[in-house]
Amino acid sequence: MSFDDLIDRHGTFCSKWDMMEPIYGVPAQDGLAMWVADMDFRAPEHVLAKLREMTDHGVLGYVDYSKPYTDAIRWWMRNRHDWDVAPEAIFTTTGLVNGVGMCLDTYTKPGDGIVLFTPVYHAFAKVIRNAGRQVVECQMVNNDGRYEMDFAAYDAQMTGNERMVILCSPHNPGGRVWTQEELRAVADFAKRHDLLLVSDEIHHDLVYPGHTHIPMPNAAPDIVDRLLMLTAPSKTFNIAGLHTGQVIIPDPELRGRFAKRMAALSLAPNSTGQMATLTAYSPEGAEWVDGLLAYLDENRRLFESAISAIPGLRAMPLEATYLAWVDFSGTGMDRAEFTERVEQQARIAVNHGTSFGTGGENFLRFNLGTQRARIEDAIDRLNRAFGDLQ
Ligand SMILES: Cc1ncc(COP(=O)(O)O)c(C=O)c1O
Repeated sequence: MSFDDLIDRHGTFCSKWDMMEPIYGVPAQDGLAMWVADMDFRAPEHVLAKLREMTDHGVLGYVDYSKPYTDAIRWWMRNRHDWDVAPEAIFTTTGLVNGVGMCLDTYTKPGDGIVLFTPVYHAFAKVIRNAGRQVVECQMVNNDGRYEMDFAAYDAQMTGNERMVILCSPHNPGGRVWTQEELRAVADFAKRHDLLLVSDEIHHDLVYPGHTHIPMPNAAPDIVDRLLMLTAPSKTFNIAGLHTGQVIIPDPELRGRFAKRMAALSLAPNSTGQMATLTAYSPEGAEWVDGLLAYLDENRRLFESAISAIPGLRAMPLEATYLAWVDFSGTGMDRAEFTERVEQQARIAVNHGTSFGTGGENFLRFNLGTQRARIEDAIDRLNRAFGDLQ
């Protein structure tokens, strides 16, 4: 299998390609889907073989989460992230948006303030609002195409009604890999304002050379008593449809409360999610991820250099993730115009920056987790749609 192999996903009920026309009006027959954050690659062959073995066995009854599953998660965190996880700290949810919802539900009450560093992954605000909690937007500073945080400003914003802060690490969108000092500053902020800290590290495996992801408990060991870690194999191995993610809770008291909530909702194990996770978190999986990263690295180089050659467009240099964050403010066009050019002229479906909160207004997010030929096609289309700026 090569990452270059084109795979037609139309008609598989996939959100990315099959919902492009109903949502964006970008025609299915010649549109390019570069929105939803999954990749157009097959999962690793050894994972698919294991799932085939399951279906060949044929009995798809109830399962329990097993020691091999827990061991595989612990092995991955130790080997890839230098992080020791206690087996009893691991809970499995139906994904990480569900994990965020569970954390809100377990530890906060309606009306509480939940801090986000915006622009940030849009589902956080959606879940917070739907749960009747308040989104508190702390806007990041765009320092010459690189997001940074401004804690003096955020301190002044706090009212005392805030209960939780959600960090995206590495950050989506913009692709920052937070440094030790930055993570320390987030932890200190959480401490200063007595907030629980949710660290969503779903993109932790997709980090480019020259940057190192540091898990929050390693960066700030003293705050584990207020820390809720979110991780998943879904982005890394392109198995998001199996809806399996981990909420890892180092503190026993917080863990006890979460366990009760899980039991109250009767969240039950998913047999395919368990099998795929324990198979992916292995030396073979690690080798596959190394190959994937080299491929994505070339995609991002190609895309970033082509975008920066179009006057007025600027892609934030990605340190992690396959989600390119493109700033259109240099074109002088209003949002409706640059969006129309991308969607209707170039026929590319992308995520709108406004959905990521304050600071995202002049941006569109392009998913580069696809075959090189599609990246080249996207570049050609954008060159034509913005050709008058050359
Ligand atoms: C930061 C972040 N968290 C969570 C998710 C989605 O997680 P899940 O599919 O496990 O709900 C995404 C998907 O893009 C994401 O970027």
